Amino acid sequence: MIRTRDAGTLRAADAGFAVTLAGWVARRRDHGGVTFLDLRDASGVAQVVLRDPEAGRALRAEFCVLVHGTVAIRPAGNANPDLPTGNVEVVATDLEVLSTSAELPFPIEGSLYGPGSVEETTRWRHRYLDLRRAWPATALRTRARMTSIIRRVMEANDFLDVETPYLTRSTPEGARDFLVPVRLQPGHWYALPQSPQLFKQLLMVAGLERYYQIARCFRDEDFRADRTPEFTQLDIELSFLDEEDVYALTESLLTTLWRDLLDVDLPVPFARMTYADAMRRFGSDRPDLRFGLELTDLSGHFAGTRFRVFAEQPYVGAVVLPGGGSLTRKELDSWQDWARGRGARGLAYVLIGEDGAVRESGPVAKHLSAEELVGLPAAAGAGAGDAVFFAAGTERPAQELLGALRLAIGRDRGLIEESAWRFLWVTHFPMFEPTDGGGWTAVHHPFTAPTPEWADRFAEEPGAGLARAYDVVVNGIELGGGSIRIHRAGMQQQVFDVIGLTREEAESKFGFLLEAFRYGPPPHGGIAFGLDRMAAVLAGTDAIREVMAFPKAASGGDPLTGAPTPITPEQRREAGIDVAP
Ligand code: AMO
Ligand code: AMP
Repeated sequence: MIRTRDAGTLRAADAGFAVTLAGWVARRRDHGGVTFLDLRDASGVAQVVLRDPEAGRALRAEFCVLVHGTVAIRPAGNANPDLPTGNVEVVATDLEVLSTSAELPFPIEGSLYGPGSVEETTRWRHRYLDLRRAWPATALRTRARMTSIIRRVMEANDFLDVETPYLTRSTPEGARDFLVPVRLQPGHWYALPQSPQLFKQLLMVAGLERYYQIARCFRDEDFRADRTPEFTQLDIELSFLDEEDVYALTESLLTTLWRDLLDVDLPVPFARMTYADAMRRFGSDRPDLRFGLELTDLSGHFAGTRFRVFAEQPYVGAVVLPGGGSLTRKELDSWQDWARGRGARGLAYVLIGEDGAVRESGPVAKHLSAEELVGLPAAAGAGAGDAVFFAAGTERPAQELLGALRLAIGRDRGLIEESAWRFLWVTHFPMFEPTDGGGWTAVHHPFTAPTPEWADRFAEEPGAGLARAYDVVVNGIELGGGSIRIHRAGMQQQVFDVIGLTREEAESKFGFLLEAFRYGPPPHGGIAFGLDRMAAVLAGTDAIREVMAFPKAASGGDPLTGAPTPITPEQRREAGIDVAP
C-alpha cells in the first residue's frame, strides 16, 4: 500500500506516529510561510501542515497528493470540534504530487447537507467530481448499505437470488420497450425487460418457491423526478402464499432498513386502506398520511342544485384551505390558475366568515340556495376563517385534482409533519381501467388475480372488478407494488379477452408462460420495490437521480458519455436495422 492510514481515521491517540496519507487537496490556506491543507480521501478529511512555502504555493484544489508526516496535537485554540480529526494535524516531512487537476467546472467543497447549488446537468456531466463532495457520496454509500441489508434479510428468509435475462421479449408493464437489434438475425429485435415479471413466474413453476433479484428494469417513459428510463427493482416472488405473507415479509424488511439506517422504529403492522377509500378520502392511490385535510364528498349536499357548474355532475367534492378566508382575491385566483394548469375547468370556492357562515360575496356563493349555504361549512368540515375549494366532474379526475390540491395546500401551509414516517398498504385496486379507445387495460398487469368475490364475474363488469394487487406507500411515495397472480389457464384467458388480446396475440406474446402453466403451476405472487426510490427516501432526498451513480438528465440523455449517439452507416447495416421483417 502506498499509504499507511486513512485520513479520516486520525485521532489524538495517533500523536507522535509517522503516517503516509494519500488523497486530494480539498482546501489550501497560506499563513505566513506555512500552508494548511485539508486532505480528503474516501474516509474523511485531515489537516496537513506544510512548512515548505514553495511546495505549498504549487498546490491547487483537487491535486492528488501523497503526504509523509507525523501526527501532532493541534496547538491550543486551533482544534476543530466539527471534524472527527479536528484535534490533530499531520506535519508534513515530504509531499509528492501524484497528479494535478485542471481548473474545476464547479467548487468541490461545501454541500455537506444537500446537493448544493450546482446545476444538475453540470453535476451529471462531471459526476466523478460531484461524487468527491460529501453529500452526493454519502447518498451512494447509503444505497450500498441498503442493498447489503436487503440481501441479508432476503437470505435469512431463504430467498434465492436468481438472475434473469436482459435481452428478452416484451414484458407486460405497460410502458414502451427499449429495443435492441440483433446482428445475427437481421430484422429481429430483443426488448429490454420492463421488469423480470414473466421470468419470476416461470421460476415459481420451476419450484424455486422463494426468489429475489436486484434487477435493472428499462421503461421508455416520460421523465419525472421519481422516474427514469432505467431503474432498479428489488424483485420478489413466492409460491403457496397469500397477501399476508407479502405484507409480513415487506414489513420485516422495511423495519430492518429503517432501524439499521435511520435508527427509527417503525410500528407494524402498517396501516391498510383500500384503493377506493384512498381515492375517496385523499384523492390519491398513494396518500401522504402525514397530515389530515381529507376530501369531502358533497355530491349529496349539492344534489338538485341550481348552480350551473355543479348541476348534473356525478361528483362534487371539496378540500378546505385552513385560514383561506383571509386570502386576497389575487391569491385565491392563483389557485384557480393552478387548477387550470392541471387541465381542470376551474376551482370554485367559497369563503367562511368569522361567524362560521359562508360569506355571501364571491362568485360562487351567490349561486347557492339558502339551504346549501347553511349546511356547507359543516358538510365540508370548514371552520371560521377558512376557504373551501370545490371540484365538480367525473369522480376519478375530480378526486385526483382535489388530492393534488390537498398536497399543495399541505405544503403551502406547512401542515406536513416532515419528520414522520407514515407507511401504508393500498389494497383492492381495480383490475382494469378504461383505455382511450373504449376498451380495457390491466391496472397492474394482466397476470394479476381478481379478489375471490370477483373471480367469477370480473369479465361481466370489468370496470368494477377488484384485484389482489397491493402497493406499499410511505409519505406519499409508492415504494413498491405487486399482486397475487392468476395460475389457472381459463381465468388467464378471460383477462386476455377483457383487455382485447386475441388468442393469437396472447399466444405470440405470452405463449411460453401459458405453456408453462400447463404443467402444475403453484399459486404464487410477489412484489417489486423501486430500489432507487427506497434509497432516495433513506438518503433524505426526493430525487432518485441522487442515488444513481451515473444518472441521466431530464432529457433522457447521459450528459457524461453523451449517449445516446447517432450510429455509423456501417453499424446500421451490421445491426440489420433497415431489414424489412
Ligand atoms: P411496478 O410497475 O409497480 O410493478 O414497479 C414496481 C416499483 O418500481 C418502481 N418504479 C420505478 N422507479 C423508477 N423509475 C421508474 N420509471 C419506475 N417504474 C416503477 C416503483 C414501483 O412501485 N412486475 C411488477 C411487480 C410485481 O407485480 O411483482 C412491477 O414491475 O417504486
Ligand atoms: P363561472 O360561472 O363559469 O365563472 O364559474 C364559477 C366558478 O366555478 C369559477 O370559480 C370556476 O373556476 C369554477 N369552476 C368551473 N368549472 C368547475 C368545475 N368543474 N369544478 C369546480 N369548479 C369549477
